[in-house]
Amino acid sequence: MAEQAKKGLEGIVVADSVTSLVNGAEGKLIYEGYKIEDLAANALFEEVVYLLWNGRLPKAAELEALRKSIAEGAVLPDGVIQFLKSIPKDADPMFVTEAAVATLAFYDPDSSEVTIEATQRKAVRLTGQITTICAAWDRIRKGEEPVAPRADLNLAQNFVYMLSGTDPDKTTSDAINVYLVLLAEHGMNASTFTSRVVTATGSDIHSAIVAAIGALKGPSHGGANAEAMRMFVEIGEPENVQPWFDKNIKNGDRRIMGIGHRIYKALDPRAAILREHAERLAQSSGNTKWFQIADDLANAALADEYFISRRLYPNVDYFSAILLYTINLDIDMFPPLFAMSRIAGWSAHVIEQMKNNRLIRPDVNYVGPMGLEWTPISER
Ligand code: ACO
Repeated sequence: MAEQAKKGLEGIVVADSVTSLVNGAEGKLIYEGYKIEDLAANALFEEVVYLLWNGRLPKAAELEALRKSIAEGAVLPDGVIQFLKSIPKDADPMFVTEAAVATLAFYDPDSSEVTIEATQRKAVRLTGQITTICAAWDRIRKGEEPVAPRADLNLAQNFVYMLSGTDPDKTTSDAINVYLVLLAEHGMNASTFTSRVVTATGSDIHSAIVAAIGALKGPSHGGANAEAMRMFVEIGEPENVQPWFDKNIKNGDRRIMGIGHRIYKALDPRAAILREHAERLAQSSGNTKWFQIADDLANAALADEYFISRRLYPNVDYFSAILLYTINLDIDMFPPLFAMSRIAGWSAHVIEQMKNNRLIRPDVNYVGPMGLEWTPISER
């Protein structure tokens, strides 16, 4: 009798990794030994990128060197800009991101060199270029010319600058920075696993990242931030929260997007941090309605026996939706922003996989028919 399949690979350990520890029972997250709370309060995104790629925090000169390399490498080749301009303006930004990252490989000087050194160089360029793709696409689809990255800015500032074409304001770029820090890495999530599976075949980092973006796009993973915001917009007003919950959740078959997690059976620590930032940002913007709707809905769920018994809590996508909406980002741009951050973790895992590689090739139980006899097509 063959071993029973583990649906969703739940509980299956597929690698040893030094990048992050997700403690689902206690709701704790660490990157390379550092608590997520400390990183969110103090780190520049590039500092976290350095940490994930090198296993230690950078000294000032190392951080500046990485910041500069990412900013300089963020320039898109003309061919990629032309490609972006050729895409239908109503295309889903995640399809655009996937396609544009694949296109980057045509122009990358190291694209077919699958060594650790070449992959590290490509990871630096890709980290900057994904940000430029996101900002450029949002402008191009609105009929505006893309804005090239500036070599003097950090990645969060550059994103705000390339999106708006004006000097980045501190509140917005700080909000983007904390978002990027919090989303950069998260154990063996579906998109990271995807990137490792592709890498394990001996394929290159552009292919691994394209595949990872495809996995991230789904509403069960990185697409949930956009779905959560669409749900808050559908609710519309704080007084609609309870009736909406009763109709769609208690007496309907919908899920609350941004709630629940395969690993966390306690509050996702990133959700707690993002809640604080989202609330502060909403207050300073003068519009707390969306935060109020999200918070009231979370409280309705947290008080409900169905959610309590299944240990369902807000995850990272729940309050990040409010943060991104408050800084006026279009809802369909939320998942690409997730990719902009998670490229850090994906790259770390790609390189970790390369350092200790073996083809990832699980097994399957055959449960189909046996012994059928071939029937000629004319007799079927
Ligand atoms: N709302 C209502 N019920 C839920 C929710 C939810 N958001 N999430 C899970 N449940 C229920 C399920 O119906 C199931 O109930 P049952 O035992 O009576 O059948 C139980 O909780 C377990 O759910 P599963 O789908 O088996 O859990 P799994 O670990 O496979 O899925 C997932 C986790 C996909 C995140 C799920 O909680 C979900 O769909 N959440 C909403 C989408 C979301 O927020 N995704 C982002 C996750 S974080 C990230 O990827 C960045």
